[in-house]
Order: sequence, then structure tokens, then C-alpha cells
Amino acid sequence: MKITFYGQNSLAIQIKDTHIIVDPFITGNDFSKDKVDIMDLKADYILLTHAHQDHILDAEAIAKNTGATIVSNYEISNHYEDKGFKVHPMNHGGNWNFNFGSVKYVNAIHTSSFPDGSYGGQPGGFIITAGDKTIYIAGDTALTMDMKLIPLQYKLDLAILPIGDNFTMGIDDAILASDFVECNNVLGVHYDTFGYIKIDHDQAKKKFEKAGKKLHLLEISESITI
Ligand code: NI
Ligand code: MN
Repeated sequence: MKITFYGQNSLAIQIKDTHIIVDPFITGNDFSKDKVDIMDLKADYILLTHAHQDHILDAEAIAKNTGATIVSNYEISNHYEDKGFKVHPMNHGGNWNFNFGSVKYVNAIHTSSFPDGSYGGQPGGFIITAGDKTIYIAGDTALTMDMKLIPLQYKLDLAILPIGDNFTMGIDDAILASDFVECNNVLGVHYDTFGYIKIDHDQAKKKFEKAGKKLHLLEISESITI
């Protein structure tokens, strides 16, 4: 499984021949807009954790360009189905076996309105399992006890956690979250994009290191393979 970072919570996940885009917010992000052409992105599926602008901005353009199926909660799926897009609706606690592997939509503590204020259902995260690899994409969330449910059923190879604070968990809570999900290999997301979520990279990495954990902070378009 190859995971590429495009800023904020935007990710590309390649599993064999299947291409998945998560929370595309690229053209609105000063860090990525000049480095990534969304028309170059391949996508069979677009996974959306919730309806906030910094997670869905480029979903329509990428879906139009690629014919990808949008996978999200019931309300977000309905929103895009009404616009003529292919969708796969899910809801919390539900798992589905796709051709590339399984996806479970799990709880997040956050909000989920669309940019126009309309209802975007309840926010979530995803657990993706393909072959013998499993990753957790927390989405925007607070630290929550529900994270402790995850290792009862999954052995994670990578936890993708927000670390920017203010709107989501910060570093200290993300370290606790990695305890809760029992995964010491963490990809940090949702930091630096706006003034409210700027972080000190060295300090963040040191804090994880001190806790016996690895924090990956990727450059735009940089990948890790698990
Ligand atoms: Ni959000
Ligand atoms: Mn966000």
C-alpha cells in the first residue's frame, strides 16, 4: 500500500491497480496548489471523511475527470448522487468489501456541515484493509475513547492522525490516540495549512520519539509504502 500526501488531509492511496483519493483539498491549499495538478490524479474511489471545505473542495472536479465513485457517509453520498456522481453510501460502524479491500467507516468527534451550511451528516474516519496491511485514517477528530475499539479487531500498520490542534487533536492527544489504537507508526496530517494549525515540526517529532513512536511528516507529493 502506497500513501502519498497532498497537504491537509489529502492523500492518494495506491493498492495494486486501484487508486483512492482521500479528502482532496489541493487547489485551495497554498502548500499544494502549485505543486499538484488535480487533473493528473488517478482515482477509482474518492473517500470523504466529512463535508468541510478543507476535505471536499476538489472532490467534484476529480470525480468528473476520473469517473471515480465517492465513498462517504449517507448524507454526503446523497449530496453527490443528486449531482449525478457515482457514490457508495456508508454509515458509522459499517464495513464494505470493495474490490481492493475492505473499508470501515468509524466514529470521529467533529462536525460536518457543507461549505454552504447544509447538513453533511456526522463526521467519520476510515479503516482500510488490503491484503495483510491495515491503515486508520482518523479524519478530523478529537481524541476519543472509541479509538480503543479499533485494536480489538484490527492490527494497524499505520495510523493517519490529525496533529494541528485547534480544530482537531494536537500533538499530545495524537500521541494518546496512537496508544488507544495501538499503533506507533503515525502519519501526521491536518497541520500548517492555516494560521490556527501551524506546528513546530521538530518539537512534534521529538515528542513522538520520546513516547517511543514514529511521526512521519511528509512533503507535498511525498509517499510512504507500508
Ligand atoms: Ni473539519
Ligand atoms: Mn479539516
